[in-house]
Amino acid sequence: MMYRFSLLGVVLCAGVSLAQAQDAKQPLYNVVDGYKVDANTMKGFRTWRAAACDRCHGANQEGMVGPSLVNSLKTLTKEEFVKTVRDGRLEKGMQSFGTNKQVMDNIDQLYAYLKGRSDGAITRSKVEEVQ
Ligand code: HEC
Repeated sequence: MMYRFSLLGVVLCAGVSLAQAQDAKQPLYNVVDGYKVDANTMKGFRTWRAAACDRCHGANQEGMVGPSLVNSLKTLTKEEFVKTVRDGRLEKGMQSFGTNKQVMDNIDQLYAYLKGRSDGAITRSKVEEVQ
């Protein structure tokens, strides 16, 4: 996919600074080599796995029954993300996670992880905690 290749350039040149640009005070996520992430982002990944979002959004977040979150998070605001995950869109097949304590307690971390994937800074789905 051409798109992926163009993103790769951004990742190689600006992985961490791209993330930091979003919030000068505190970066949303930190990533080294495309897959070594900070502890918070790692929590987000664990939450993604525990909630099995991949059943519908695909193991690489690129979509299945549900849409590609790599694409969605380029335009969806954080507020829209939180609302969708919390309330679901039941009539459209997106379940509600409002009563899932792990998801709701880690919603910021989950967003950080998925945003990193969407930005192209986290280059593969499976991440490890940076040592
Ligand atoms: C049972 C299948 C299913 C599961 C499990 C699921 N989703 Fe979804 N999700 C969907 C579908 C289908 C949609 C599209 C709804 C629509 O058409 O508006 C969606 C939409 C979304 C959207 C909005 C995308 C957009 O472009 O508006 C987000 C964000 C999202 N899901 C995140 C998650 C996260 C995070 C998890 C795990 C905590 C998850 N989903 C689990 C099926 C699922």
